[in-house]
Amino acid sequence: QKEQFINKLLQRMTLQEKIGQLNLLTSDMDVTGPFMKPGYKKDIETGACGAIFNAYTPQYTRQLQEMALKTRLKIPLLFGYDVIHGHKTIFPIPLGEACTWDMALMQKSARIAAVEASADGLHWTYSPMVDIARDPRWGRVAEGVGEDTWYGMQVAKAKVKGYQGTDLSADSTVLACVKHFALYGAIEAGRDYNTVDMSRRRMYQEYLPPYKAAVDAGVATVMTSFNEIDGIPATGNKWLLTDLLREQWGFNGFVVTDYTAINEMIAHGVAEDELEAGALAMNAGVDMDMQGGVYAGQLKKLVEQKKVTMQQIDTAVYRVLAAKYDLGLFSDPFRYCDPARAQREIMRPAHLQAAREIAKRSIVLLKNEKQLLPLRKQGTIAVIGPLANSQRDMIGNWSAAGDASKAVTLLQGIKNKLGSGVKILYEQGAYITGDTGMLKKALQKPRLETADTANAAQMLNDAVSLAQQADVVIMALGESQGMSGEAASRSGIGIPDNQQQLLKAVYATGKPVVLVLMNGRPLTLEWEDAHISAILETWFLGTEAGNAIADVLFGDYNPAGKITMTFPRNTGQIPIYYNHRSTGRPLNPDNKYTSKYLDVSNDPLYPFGYGLSYTKFTYGPLQLSSRQMSRGGQLRASIQVSNTGGYDGEEVVQLYIRDKVGSVTRPVKELKGFKKIFLEKGQSTTVTFIIHLEDLEFYDKDMQWTAEPGEFTVFVGTNSRDVQAADFTLN
Ligand code: IFM
Repeated sequence: QKEQFINKLLQRMTLQEKIGQLNLLTSDMDVTGPFMKPGYKKDIETGACGAIFNAYTPQYTRQLQEMALKTRLKIPLLFGYDVIHGHKTIFPIPLGEACTWDMALMQKSARIAAVEASADGLHWTYSPMVDIARDPRWGRVAEGVGEDTWYGMQVAKAKVKGYQGTDLSADSTVLACVKHFALYGAIEAGRDYNTVDMSRRRMYQEYLPPYKAAVDAGVATVMTSFNEIDGIPATGNKWLLTDLLREQWGFNGFVVTDYTAINEMIAHGVAEDELEAGALAMNAGVDMDMQGGVYAGQLKKLVEQKKVTMQQIDTAVYRVLAAKYDLGLFSDPFRYCDPARAQREIMRPAHLQAAREIAKRSIVLLKNEKQLLPLRKQGTIAVIGPLANSQRDMIGNWSAAGDASKAVTLLQGIKNKLGSGVKILYEQGAYITGDTGMLKKALQKPRLETADTANAAQMLNDAVSLAQQADVVIMALGESQGMSGEAASRSGIGIPDNQQQLLKAVYATGKPVVLVLMNGRPLTLEWEDAHISAILETWFLGTEAGNAIADVLFGDYNPAGKITMTFPRNTGQIPIYYNHRSTGRPLNPDNKYTSKYLDVSNDPLYPFGYGLSYTKFTYGPLQLSSRQMSRGGQLRASIQVSNTGGYDGEEVVQLYIRDKVGSVTRPVKELKGFKKIFLEKGQSTTVTFIIHLEDLEFYDKDMQWTAEPGEFTVFVGTNSRDVQAADFTLN
């Protein structure tokens, strides 16, 4: 029925009408790229555009949809938007949410985002972003789940399921879009939009699997990346978009470019002009042009010049119409435009409650000397820092439709938590940064307060005086939301200098200091780790940030988050990630001629999977059900975990495997499973993992997916560094 309907429609369409369906334009409600094209409404009215992004609300999308329905064939518009970590109810940034190690929760936040977005007129989200990222200088690490391939695959699946549900035609589902296909996370030097160069082996083994997992989970659309792949930009890369994506992986949705990515092939130097760029994109397998106007301007000529066939155009149009059909837009183009539904669904109490749950589970306790945390609900507490009371920063980057005025700041969260018996003092203490040049680049419109540094010294002195009056000081420091995300790379990734000065001055008072970090990437924190007693990583936690942090600070929730991206000691260690391969001269501190630095250790400050708890978990020895595994068999790895501390708590027990000798070099360890458990204080449990053949498989020297016989080491532990090990042989 669907096929018949679309084919019949295709027969009635002129070439111009077909090209219109492949043209995606931004409205002027939001800006997410380097240029806007005025007159998008005219394009809708003339059928020259089939999809719109950056437009939402039932009223506005209805108004635009009505325009589209006045065209000859009345083909409804598709509305897309960057619903990255929530629509109106904002959840933690993805790199923060990943620290929950809870797939059900990550699926739930995507589901809620879809419920709110679809109630607000939207059909399509540009999420999940599944780019594996190992360079924290890149600001977009905030949008993904970090450095691990296997973990990235699990999250990719959960997110697609959350957004798309089980049936696209059901109410409250949106099309998901896996991005940025492919390898965007491997840009050189962490500088956004830079080039990528990677071996096929690394691509297949480490970078491509999360995109593939999203395709296997039924993702409806794929977005091309800005970077090149083996010398050919992704948007013009036939190997990537046709041979791999469609033929090998069987993807049958539609492919959209990133913002003006077709045009950018001219700057990349692979196309002379838009005509050539358009031909490259269509012949590679791009269906829809985001904002570039290249398909709109060039496809007709390309058909006339026989550089593109009608068959190719029909195939692309078919895919776009199929998505509209699957969403039920041909039966009811206004089914996502109901203001009463928006009123009912958006920011419901249940959504806010979920946001708080997920936010508190995303918090990572990095240090807690002498059990400074949790704090007692008494005495005088000083709250200091430029991020302590900033609503805009709480909802982070890519919180496009998020309403900052609804966000709970740390200061507010602490006030909400504590009764009048506790004295709460507050000073901002510093601006986000003293570097006004950086601010201008980071924000489209720099906030005046942060650009004006004239009274910085006075602010610092006021904060120090305030600290002196307190029993304990909570300092909220880090990055503003605009210092990570797209086009927000940094060459130094510490807390900005002026904030460090403030921290050092408050530390010098001798008062106990709890450092609450807010940031969109791993930071370099060597001084902080050496001096500050308690450090909480809170990322940008979303609408309920302040309440969630207060839950953790005052012990109403025992933190259990674990980082999914390594924190380096300094930027010179980058790229640094736990699952690297072994060199021919592995580190030997006593031998000069081994792989190391003269000025810093090889170890990160905080390894992948790391995060503390208020309680203590003790691990027994690792036991394997056998020292031998046959190809048809499986192995059980068991370990006893005991809560030997003073609080009930959750722990993420992690399983890693190393293939000791392979036909190609293998990582020193790779995550292959985890279990999140809850133990009351004094309780113990045995955690068991089943190891299957597929956990041992990889691309061998001939690029065949296989497990090779030989010795393996299994590691189980609380993070990727602190593990128990046992060996077995695969026969
Ligand atoms: O979805 C985004 C993409 O991640 C970066 N460029 C703009 C797109 C649409 O806003």
